[in-house]
Amino acid sequence: MKVVQLSDLHLTRDGDLLYGRSPRARLTQAIDRILADDADASLCLLTGDLADAGSDNAYTDLRAALARLPMPCHLLPGNHDDRAALRRAFPALPDDGNGFVQQALATPAGRFLLLDTLRDGKPWGLLCPARLAWLAAELAAGGDQPLFITMHHPPFAAGLPAMDRFMLRGVDAFWEVIAPHRARIRHLFIGHLHRPIGGSWRGIPFSCVASPNHQVALDTASSGDDVPGCAEPAGYGVILIDGDTIVAHHRPLAGGDTAFLL
Ligand SMILES: [Fe+2]
Repeated sequence: MKVVQLSDLHLTRDGDLLYGRSPRARLTQAIDRILADDADASLCLLTGDLADAGSDNAYTDLRAALARLPMPCHLLPGNHDDRAALRRAFPALPDDGNGFVQQALATPAGRFLLLDTLRDGKPWGLLCPARLAWLAAELAAGGDQPLFITMHHPPFAAGLPAMDRFMLRGVDAFWEVIAPHRARIRHLFIGHLHRPIGGSWRGIPFSCVASPNHQVALDTASSGDDVPGCAEPAGYGVILIDGDTIVAHHRPLAGGDTAFLL
């Protein structure tokens, strides 16, 4: 099964530039690329920071862009998003019963649990007791099917001090809920870090994807108020799941065409 992961689009109100780039144009480029090379994906996951400042226009743009894709698209919010505005543009957005954008998706590869780590007005993430209670119930459901957890904020420090202060908070409470199901959790898909990153956290493999618009620099020292950005290639994730093998690829928006044969 192929899954496309788009993250951190940071769409602006009227298509304004952000860090010298047009998030709207970059999303168009990403959609073009998906249609050219990844139209066979079974689903597209959007892992937060869909808008830069939660504006209605940004979400309207997003809806129009996603309408071009042939596969179902599933959204979850990041710290830059606004749930109410997101719901105005996507009235069918899931609700976990407490107003949070959380859902369990049944797929041939297993169950994807999409979590809402947005704490209104804060750059860091949080799963409050209500969201954790929903997660506990969903983890317990679904028998022995493989589980894939998808969320915006990483529950770990990535060695990027400028970003690590904005990771998920309350990690021990999160771990307490997922630990009993550890054996069935095959992968953790995250956004927020604006870089293609892979590794494992407490034994759970994870991957993060680039932003189609702007990247965070691989700076393991800076810890000031500003997050260092860089001009590394924009892109999105292409995840291939085949039984117990999961491969997370980075698809750059430019330069990825076959140019020569090895
Ligand atoms: Fe972001």
